Amino acid sequence: MFAKVTFAALLSVMAVPAMAAQCEATIEGNDAMQFNTKEIVVDKSCDEFTVTLVHVGKLPKAAMGHNVVITKAADRQGVANDATSAGPANDYLKPNDERVIAHTKMLGGGEKDSVTFKTDALEAGGDYDFFCSFPGHWAVMNGKVVVK
Ligand code: CU
Repeated sequence: MFAKVTFAALLSVMAVPAMAAQCEATIEGNDAMQFNTKEIVVDKSCDEFTVTLVHVGKLPKAAMGHNVVITKAADRQGVANDATSAGPANDYLKPNDERVIAHTKMLGGGEKDSVTFKTDALEAGGDYDFFCSFPGHWAVMNGKVVVK
């Protein structure tokens, strides 16, 4: 009897981490203008999701700045074009751009920033991208935000 209860308790403890949704993702950007992932998965069972960007390079923001911007895939190029126009004073992102679902700060080497957003903003199965809005970076520094 004792052994049976203990086994059941152990099973329930083991089941918790296996079923808990992953509500955050970390992306690294480097001095070679690369992210270390092409996809992040947002689980809608999370009320909120946190994306952390770590700039693992050494170059300053002015030369090799990176951020993570999340938009609908269809909005990516337009947001990136406006970001370039917004210039360094705005960290290469149009202020209050309504197409932007979430974004981190623009970082230089060695810096780190996180952004937390409500998953209500995303539809399961929708087509979303993440990218860096530094001029010229979006075309290579991008990936899919898979929403399930
Ligand atoms: Cu970048």
